[in-house]
Amino acid sequence: MTTKITEVSLEHLRLSLKDKMSPKRYNHTLEVEKMAVRLAELFCPSKTDVLRAAALLHDITKEYSVEEQLQICKKFGIITKRLDILSPKTFHAKTAAALIPEMYPDFADSEVISAVRFHTTGREGMTLCEALIYFADYIDESRKFKDCVILRNAFWDAHPDLMTEQDRIVLLYRLLVMSFDMTINGLVAENVPISADTVLARNDFICRLSELSE
Ligand SMILES: [Fe+2]
Ligand SMILES: [Fe+2]
Repeated sequence: MTTKITEVSLEHLRLSLKDKMSPKRYNHTLEVEKMAVRLAELFCPSKTDVLRAAALLHDITKEYSVEEQLQICKKFGIITKRLDILSPKTFHAKTAAALIPEMYPDFADSEVISAVRFHTTGREGMTLCEALIYFADYIDESRKFKDCVILRNAFWDAHPDLMTEQDRIVLLYRLLVMSFDMTINGLVAENVPISADTVLARNDFICRLSELSE
């Protein structure tokens, strides 16, 4: 499924989101969009509009209560396990992806939806669009958390714009592994469950890096 995303439809989307989110969440959303555009320029200029739409939509349900998240899961037949209840932060990616076709049908594009769906946990076999939204969300300029600043600086200080395509992908994969390690370490420290998708994503990028170095 592909949908025509235009400058006008993106601007309508921004206006609609502004009313539905706290100023802090809206600002983060716009910063993720800006970062997604910068990453698209480096990795896949033809996907810029897909990444802009996914960035704008990625946190549409982040401020919903756990009860609301559970209701949406029930409505869309999303299976919730005991583990999901213990890590409610992962809910919003699933519920946002599920709501896009009915709330924002102009953006019901399979690449947009999957980038939103996996922006929190990652997964094995992430597409480039999924990986770039996940990464843009981690390193957007509004993030002041130490790990985010370390990753953001590690990426831009390496001057990805001056690299060959292959070196740029290696840099991205290396930093994705680092981000999954940071997330996993944080979850271990908090003594909360780790999504299996996050572990699978980490292992997958380590395998991809080893294949690229052969
Ligand atoms: Fe999120
Ligand atoms: Fe986010």
